[in-house]
Amino acid sequence: MDYFTLARVLHVLAVVLWIGGVGMVTTVIIPAVKRMKSREEQMEAFEKTEGRFSLQAKITTLITAITGFYMLHLYGWERLLDLKFWWIHAMILVWLIFTVILFILEPFFLHKLFRKYVKKDPGKAFEIIHRAHWVLLILSLLTIFGAVAGSHGWYFI
Ligand code: HEM
Repeated sequence: MDYFTLARVLHVLAVVLWIGGVGMVTTVIIPAVKRMKSREEQMEAFEKTEGRFSLQAKITTLITAITGFYMLHLYGWERLLDLKFWWIHAMILVWLIFTVILFILEPFFLHKLFRKYVKKDPGKAFEIIHRAHWVLLILSLLTIFGAVAGSHGWYFI
């Protein structure tokens, strides 16, 4: 069996589930929640959907990292020293940002902070969370663009 290809297949499947979910939350769920009338309804809907997605995101970020670092190990870590592989740095950066948010910031700070903010000004709280999701989604899509192009020999530099 070709373990490299298996790693690539698992890597892409994990990325699809993870970033696809971020896309769904950003373009469908948050806009729907923002249109709900009461603060309680908004909070319940958001926590139920985002809470479920959080577990999926945790598992898929782990699979992405294990398979990604495995492929990098087989290729050779010196790739990190070559600027034409900027998209590998971008992948690691995106993974690091999500890992810090999912495993540290969200459970220890963001959750409590968000609940407090929603009580004070729900409109603004959801606006901020929506913008943050857009930033992460755009960064992830640019990274996927660079990673697919780069993996197939289109380097740009
Ligand atoms: C720990 C973080 C990561 C590492 C070490 C890593 C590493 C790698 C490596 C070594 C490859 C193969 C490149 C090649 O064949 O030349 C790859 C492919 C790829 N990665 Fe990552 N990656 C990571 C995270 C991510 C993230 C966060 C995304 C999405 C935002 C992503 C999306 C992709 C895609 C779409 C491919 C291309 C698959 C293909 O077209 O064959 N990776 N990654």
